[in-house]
Amino acid sequence: MINFKPVDETAIPQLMAIETACHSHPWTLNTMSSCLGGRYFNVAAFENETMVGFYIGEKAGPDFTLMDICVTPSYQGKGIAKQLLAQFIEYGEQQNAENLFLEVRESNTRAIALYEYAGFIEMSVRKNYYPSDNPAKNGFEDAILMGMALSLGFQ
Ligand SMILES: CC(C)(COP(=O)(O)OP(=O)(O)OC[C@H]1O[C@@H](n2cnc3c(N)ncnc32)[C@H](O)[C@@H]1OP(=O)(O)O)[C@@H](O)C(=O)NCCC(=O)NCCS
Repeated sequence: MINFKPVDETAIPQLMAIETACHSHPWTLNTMSSCLGGRYFNVAAFENETMVGFYIGEKAGPDFTLMDICVTPSYQGKGIAKQLLAQFIEYGEQQNAENLFLEVRESNTRAIALYEYAGFIEMSVRKNYYPSDNPAKNGFEDAILMGMALSLGFQ
């Protein structure tokens, strides 16, 4: 059974192990450390004592951004990211966020399918936003900016 709970900086080694196993261009330790506490929030997924996934979000006024979401490769395809994303959205609703945002590599069809399933829509394309190892991409890859309006502000 998978359990979910927020973590603090004591969990950085586990977060970094998943981060580096999941991403072609993982966050550095410094980036990970700077995204815990303050305006950042998170939930991690555990099987027994083992962390198997996490999301990290950021609050900026009425806008909440999903900064990162990862599931350990051997635990992918079991619905863990769906549950983490649902908790991100639920937290935004509870905290009266008006908009949720995220950026995703255009090649990350798996993550895009997950976000569309949850209700995010494409808002714009940020050209050459991410570094890429794909020789066809000239060293960079576009980011898709996706969003979800929780409140349209109409009374
Ligand atoms: C993207 C990621 C977080 C999905 O995690 P996950 O736990 O495997 O996802 P889930 O099992 O909850 O699946 C959710 C949806 O993702 C999509 N998905 C999951 N596995 C998939 C696969 N093998 N092929 C295609 N789509 C898949 C499907 O839409 C799926 O919904 P479905 O089960 O109803 O078909 C995970 O693959 C990951 O950590 N990737 C590397 C890090 C990353 O790219 N993060 C996103 C950065 S923007």
